[in-house]
Amino acid sequence: MTGNVSVALQFDPHTLPVALRPWLEALPSSAEQSATGFVLRFLDDRLQLLAPDPVLGELEIDLGRGQAGYRGARARNERLVRACGVREGSVIVDATGGLGTDAWLLASAGARVTVLERHPVVAALLADGLRRAGVGRPEIAGRIDLTCVDSRVALPRWQQPLTAIYMDPMYPPRRKSALGDRRLRLLAALFAAEGIAESGDDVGGLLAAARAAPALRAVLKRPQREPLPAGAPTPDYSLEGRSTRFDVWRRADIVM
Ligand SMILES: C[S@@+](CC[C@H](N)C(=O)[O-])C[C@H]1O[C@@H](n2cnc3c(N)ncnc32)[C@H](O)[C@@H]1O
Repeated sequence: MTGNVSVALQFDPHTLPVALRPWLEALPSSAEQSATGFVLRFLDDRLQLLAPDPVLGELEIDLGRGQAGYRGARARNERLVRACGVREGSVIVDATGGLGTDAWLLASAGARVTVLERHPVVAALLADGLRRAGVGRPEIAGRIDLTCVDSRVALPRWQQPLTAIYMDPMYPPRRKSALGDRRLRLLAALFAAEGIAESGDDVGGLLAAARAAPALRAVLKRPQREPLPAGAPTPDYSLEGRSTRFDVWRRADIVM
């Protein structure tokens, strides 16, 4: 978890839904004054992050509806689901939770998904998205657990055998054009304002941690032409798409 959060909190914690309170209590109290202009508010039963740049606007997490819901309904055909080898009862760690779209997709395909997200504000937004999505789709939301932790720390200590560990780190800033999703650009702006992830997330560190954990597969999503981090082993295979690819490393020594 980062210790450098600088988002102003614009709500009375006592008015929050009980399920959300622990996630916001986890934020440092110094967050009351924002040095970065980012604001977290609770409005119309939803947690929202507002960027100081009006072009980036606001971010709230909606799962099970719109694009996420549409893709969830067809989850079994998705490249991500095939890359992770998901079947009914698969156990997945999503090591880079973010907006939760991919975790929702994996859970829609029948997997139990533990989501790890290191940033407490992103984790709080995701907890809120899961809380609301759980009202309409309790069977899917109920297959997802969320923890605010750095995966590079959590994964090497993992005990339970896993079907797959999935990683979708932020792209480096020079790939801004590849960050098509405005909401991911908003997250990137928050991380940059806090002085973290200035050169994208630590892909090499995540991959090393995933390969140290007891998983049948480590799956890494990257822009199509992005080289692997220096020293990374060659993947066993890749599922290629137009703009992204999923690199897959397999282990034969794990018993589920
Ligand atoms: C590109 S987003 C992931 C998007 C996600 N796949 C989705 O469907 O919305 C990357 C996220 O990974 C998180 N992250 C990066 N490195 C991490 C780490 N070492 N441990 C946990 N979370 C991490 C970032 O904070 C960010 O929220």
